[in-house]
Formats: sequence, C-alpha cells, structure tokens
Amino acid sequence: MKRRVSVVECPGGPLLVRGADEVVSADGSVAAVERSVVAVCRCGRSDRLPWCDDSHKDRAKRKKKRAQES
Ligand code: FES
Repeated sequence: MKRRVSVVECPGGPLLVRGADEVVSADGSVAAVERSVVAVCRCGRSDRLPWCDDSHKDRAKRKKKRAQES
C-alpha cells in the first residue's frame, strides 16, 4: 500500500513533513519520525537538527532590524 507523504514550505521557516517514517539528512544520518507532522529545519541554526527549534525566528528578527536601520 502506498503511503502519502506531504511537504509544505513555511516561508522563512521549516518544512512541515506529514506522513514520513524517517528524515534523512544531507550527511546521511537518519532521524526517526515519531509524530504525524514534524518541522524540519532549513536554516541550519537549530540546536536540535534536523528538527526546527524556532531559531530561524531570531534570524528573521535580525534581518528585519537591519532593514529598518538602513
Ligand atoms: S528552520 Fe527553524 S530553526 Fe531552522
């Protein structure tokens, strides 16, 4: 039976992955998925890679602050 996996991009944030059993990182490491939906980090700043820990929000705040200062 085919299993449906969906990936949704959150602009400026993680990828939301639904229906996966595991996530394979670029270095080949495998993380088991234990939830129906997981947030996979795209910015590389998370302390919990491959999972998003909201560190991308700090980056967005700094970017916004720099734009306001210029
Ligand atoms: S995308 Fe959220 S910490 Fe990287």
